[in-house]
Amino acid sequence: MEIRDAKLEDAAAICEVLRQSVTNLCIGDHKNDPAILGAWLGNKTPETLKGWIADPSRQMLVVTEEEDVLAVGGVLDTGEITLNYVLPSVRMRGISKVMVEALESRAKERGAKTCTLNSTGTARRFYLAMGYAEQEPKTGMFGAIVYPMSKLL
Ligand SMILES: CC(C)(COP(=O)(O)OP(=O)(O)OC[C@H]1O[C@@H](n2cnc3c(N)ncnc32)[C@H](O)[C@@H]1OP(=O)(O)O)[C@@H](O)C(=O)NCCC(=O)NCCS
Repeated sequence: MEIRDAKLEDAAAICEVLRQSVTNLCIGDHKNDPAILGAWLGNKTPETLKGWIADPSRQMLVVTEEEDVLAVGGVLDTGEITLNYVLPSVRMRGISKVMVEALESRAKERGAKTCTLNSTGTARRFYLAMGYAEQEPKTGMFGAIVYPMSKLL
């Protein structure tokens, strides 16, 4: 297993990870509501992903095994973690923990003092265990409830 910077040619494989993870792991969040799920998946296209990978103010990382992309993470130079998704088939293998630690290191290297994120309900206990403190839940940009969190680096 390897963690590395995402490349433009990973865009389609990353989209597949995102679609499978959101659709199958985050059911408690979108509750199979077509409006929420549609909005959540709507910007997860290879074209959007290529833009994020090429964005110099954004770090995009992937965990790979042989040629397969197993997980994707993203963090802005501001310290905001924007993505952290794992394939359902490799959940609970420590992959997201490695990913979040790598995103935090990248953010710190690039000058951030704090990491922030909007957790799903699905990942809420995971982030609390990773040392994040939560604020009041709110409705997120796709219509599901999110849990704003932060951690001093
Ligand atoms: C929750 C999720 C992110 C965890 O990823 P993962 O790769 O399965 O987690 P890991 O295997 O790295 O687990 C790390 C630790 O967190 C714990 N953990 C993982 N998921 C957990 C959960 N839902 N609740 C409580 N603890 C959890 C693990 O037991 C492990 O603990 P340990 O270090 O004491 O053994 C992932 O399973 C998931 O559901 N992702 C869906 C997408 C999502 O919601 N992403 C977040 C967007 S903000």
